[in-house]
Amino acid sequence: MAEELQIAAGSRKEVYQSLIPQLKALIEGEDDFIANCANIAAALRQSFNFWWVGFYFVKNQEELVLGPFQGDIACTRIKIGKGVCGTTWEKNETIIVDDVETFPGHIACSSASKSEIVVPIVKEGVVIGVLDVDSDKLADFNEVDKIYLEQVALIIADSIRS
Ligand code: SME
Repeated sequence: MAEELQIAAGSRKEVYQSLIPQLKALIEGEDDFIANCANIAAALRQSFNFWWVGFYFVKNQEELVLGPFQGDIACTRIKIGKGVCGTTWEKNETIIVDDVETFPGHIACSSASKSEIVVPIVKEGVVIGVLDVDSDKLADFNEVDKIYLEQVALIIADSIRS
């Protein structure tokens, strides 16, 4: 495991490009899923200073339950189709919200959160959870975040033994 995260100077894309191999190294050789998700949430927040970074995982095919995260306390359970997270689960696709106030049914865990990206974590075609990143700036996420956060979701899904 890397001793310390090296955060590249440069564009967000460059930071992601330097971060992805470090995330792989960070969880390599560690098979505890919760520990790995916790470190990934921390590494993402540390690298970009996002307002909130965390995971929700599907429980009993009924609802998402809060997993490891970095940031303020958040709502614990989200039903399928509810909020940005539940909609991402239902649609099995990444959702970028430039202004959370315009997203119907957005679940506001913090009034400081202005924009959001939620990426599904898919194992063998089934959504097992989501990675949720919130920003305190409007329209803070774009295709670059989608590409690299989807890679992060893949790293997490791949770390689970089939
Ligand atoms: N805003 C999310 C809820 C989770 S918090 O942002 C941490 C949603 O609408 O699903």
